[in-house]
Parts: sequence; structure tokens; C-alpha cells
Amino acid sequence: MKVTADYAVPSSVKNDIVAFFIFQDKKLFEAEVSKIEKEFKLNIKDFLGKENEMLLFYTTEKKIPSRLLLIGLGESQKFTMEKLRRASATAAKKTQSLKLSSLAVNCPDVENILSLSPKEIATALVEGALLSVYKYDKYISKEKNSRKLERISIISHSKNLVNQIQKGIQIGVTLAEATKHARDLTNAPGNEIYPETLAKDSQRLARTFKFSASVFDKRKIQSMKMGGVIGVSKGSVREPRLIILEYGKQYKKYGTAVLVGKGVTFDTGGISIKPAAGMAEMKMDMGGAAAVIGTFQAVAGLKLPRHVVGIIPSVENMVSGSAIKPGDIIRHYNGKTSEVDNTDAEGRLILADALSYAEKFHPDVVIDLATLTGACVVALGQHASGMMGNDQSTMESLKTAGEKTYERVWQLPLFDEYEKQIKSDIADVKNVGGRWAGAITAGLFLKKFIGNYKWVHLDIAGTAMLEENLDYIPRGGSGVGVRLLVEFLKIWKK
Ligand code: BES
Ligand code: MN
Ligand code: ZN
Repeated sequence: MKVTADYAVPSSVKNDIVAFFIFQDKKLFEAEVSKIEKEFKLNIKDFLGKENEMLLFYTTEKKIPSRLLLIGLGESQKFTMEKLRRASATAAKKTQSLKLSSLAVNCPDVENILSLSPKEIATALVEGALLSVYKYDKYISKEKNSRKLERISIISHSKNLVNQIQKGIQIGVTLAEATKHARDLTNAPGNEIYPETLAKDSQRLARTFKFSASVFDKRKIQSMKMGGVIGVSKGSVREPRLIILEYGKQYKKYGTAVLVGKGVTFDTGGISIKPAAGMAEMKMDMGGAAAVIGTFQAVAGLKLPRHVVGIIPSVENMVSGSAIKPGDIIRHYNGKTSEVDNTDAEGRLILADALSYAEKFHPDVVIDLATLTGACVVALGQHASGMMGNDQSTMESLKTAGEKTYERVWQLPLFDEYEKQIKSDIADVKNVGGRWAGAITAGLFLKKFIGNYKWVHLDIAGTAMLEENLDYIPRGGSGVGVRLLVEFLKIWKK
């Protein structure tokens, strides 16, 4: 997809369709509509500028653009950046559904309303448009020939703004492409993405985007005494990998952030096997890894001045004669032991090794992302990720980043009282904590393995793969975490 910033009047663009975003407020509405009416010599009726309202109409066929699309923004007082993303998504999806390939959007004058820069406005427009027309179609034979939206032009009547819009576009494209890569990884079936291929993908990406990726194989992981990663991988013929990403060593003085991503490329549950219905969804159990990989793509693409390390333990949780069993005891990287009461609580077993390994990088903050518990899906559904941690100020920054990007997080408590649920009689900790507060007891399990650093855990089980379409997230892998983490890293101060 090609996105450009152009200095032009709407009636002069050569795109198939030109979209206008219009507020409902009387003054703003009339000013904008009368401008369009004059320029195109027409009379607009039946449009009020309400949120989600859309009106498509045609100029005489000889003219280009021959289609005008009006999209309502609702009341200016209630306007948000997210509504701008959604409005842009509406325009892009409409263009694509009409099988047209080129869209012009009139950059709305919302600077004063939102106190956003033209750059930020352009970024939001691009995010909404590019992410909304995403489709995981690489395995659909006929889809390849169907016509797609190929060009978007953001037009502005002010020459001075074009430069800034161009900068915003570049940021938006980078974020959207990184998010789409995370979606692709999440949507990819388990026979395509398994630990070895996930590692290969990271290495290929690292070459393109200029960050480093090292991959540890089974023997190395064994020699490092990462009992969790080895243990969970034992039931599979696919060997485990530990993927280490690194970007921006020269920015160490601004702080080192370590991002840990759960990379279970398929989760059958192991011997504590999951029910057949819906098990296919468990190809998404590497959504945390996808978020970390996508974040590296974006951070490197944007040349963000931060030192970032990624740690991805990757395994396939399978059932076989060699699989770990309920009752087994594992010794983790930091020497602590865990009792495996349920082999389906595998994510925390591999994260335990990764979190204690993170200490080696002297991090100023460690954030882990994991599709960790069904309990978190029950609690928050698909509209917020669960957040737990030991540092309130880091969590506040993540909340702020979550509001801005609309990848929202919601904090759950790590009260000491919950801890007795994961007490083991025969090991340092037990890997399940019973029926209640499952997202929290998983968080408390992880807490046992962190080092002396600020730490936040994000449970993205409900947000990494959506059951229902959102405005610019089609059902399936969402790429959640990428835009959130990039925004967090931008505002973060160690
Ligand atoms: N990968 C799952 C969690 C999950 C559930 C992710 C639904 C996405 C959607 C995780 O490994 C798991 O199986 N967790 C168990 C833990 C339980 C055995 C304590 C769960 O949530 O049921
Ligand atoms: Mn599981
Ligand atoms: Zn899992």
C-alpha cells in the first residue's frame, strides 16, 4: 500500500473516491458541507455528521473523483483519536468493498479540537485505514487476484502541513506494517509457525530492519538449565528455541527495556489435554511473541532512541509418551522448582525461565506479554488486556499508552493473600492455583521468578485473537501489544 501526503483541493484529485470527515456540530457541519457543495457544485441532503454515519454519492461519471464519501465524526466535544482511526477505517473498508484501488481522504482540521498535531492526525488516519483492510488470505487461492485498496492520498489545502502529514504517514505505515506482521504470525497455522520457523522469521526480520537476533537451540537451552522450556517442549517432535532480540545498544543511557513474549506455537494442553472444540484457536498461543517481534520491527523502523531486548521462549505443547506429566517437578533457570499440577498451565513454566534470564541484561524495566489464562478472557473479554506488576508508575505509563493507542490495559491486584493458592507441598511453587482468580495466580507464579527489576505482566489471552470484528481489527490475530509497547517506549523514562 502506498500512502502519500498531497497538497491539493478535493475536486482535483485523481483517486477513485474522496472521503470527507464531518462533525455534527452545527457550525462546523455547515462550514464543511457548504465548502464541499460549492467546490463540487452539488446539494448535500440526508447527512447529519453523526458518528458512524456514512453517505456515498456520485458526481457525473466523467469527473474524477467520481465518488464522494461523507463520514460523520459526531460531536466535536466527544471526539477522540480513536474515532478518527475508526472513521478512516470506514473510508478504507468502503473503498475496498467497492473494489476500488485508490482513495483520497481530506485531512480534517481537528488540531484545535483534539490538541493533536497534524502529524499525529495523519498517523491515526493511516493506522485506521491500513489495519482495517488487513486480511489473512495467504492460503486462499482465489483471493490473490481480487482487487485491493492500493493507494491512499491524504490531501491538505495547506502547503505547510503537507510535510508534517508526510512524517505522520511514515510513522503510521511503520506501526501498521509491524502490527500486520504480528497478526500474520498469530494467524499462521501451527504447521507453518513452530519454534524453529518462528526463530527463522525473527532472524529474517532482524536482517531487514537492522536489529540483532540470536537463537538458542535445544542443546544450548539444556545447558543453560532452563527446565521449564525443556520440560514443556518434551512432548513435541519440534524442538524448542530461545530467541533473543536486541536493538539500540547505543541508547543504553536512556534505559534498557526487556520485552518477554510467550511463544507457545501450539497449545494442546499436553497430557492435561484441552477439549477438541475450539482447540485450533491455540495456534495463537504465541501472540506474546508476535507482539514482541512486531515491536522490534516498529522500534527499529522508527529508529526509536531506546535500548530494547526481546526474550522469546518458544515451544510446542504436545501430547506424547515423552511429554511432561502432572506431578512432575521442574527446576528453572534461577534454581527454583515448580510442581506441574496441570500441563496446560505451560506458559508460566517457560516464562519463569525467560523472566529470570532477563536479569542478565540489567533491565530498567521488564514487560512480559502472554496469552496466559482463560480466566483473563472471562474477566475482561476482548477489550482490555490484564495488567499486573510490581511498579505502579510503569503501570500508569502503560495505562496512558493504552488509552492513546486504544490497546487498553486493566490492572488486577497481586495481593499476597492469593499466594497460598499456588503453594506446593513438594516444590517451591505449584503451576496452578485452583478455580478462582486464575489470571492473578498466574501473575503471582511469574512474580516468583522475576529478578531485582521493575516488572509488568500483560495477559493478552483475550485481546491477541478476536472472536468478533472491531472497526480496524478483523476477527483473528489482532497484533495487540505492538502499538501499545511502542507508545510506552516513547513516553518511558527510566
Ligand atoms: N494458552 C492458554 C490460555 C488461553 C486460553 C489463551 C484461552 C487464549 C484463550 C494457557 O496455556 C492455558 O491453557 N491456561 C489454562 C491454565 C489453567 C490450567 C490453570 C487456562 O486458562 O485454562
Ligand atoms: Mn495451556
Ligand atoms: Zn498456553
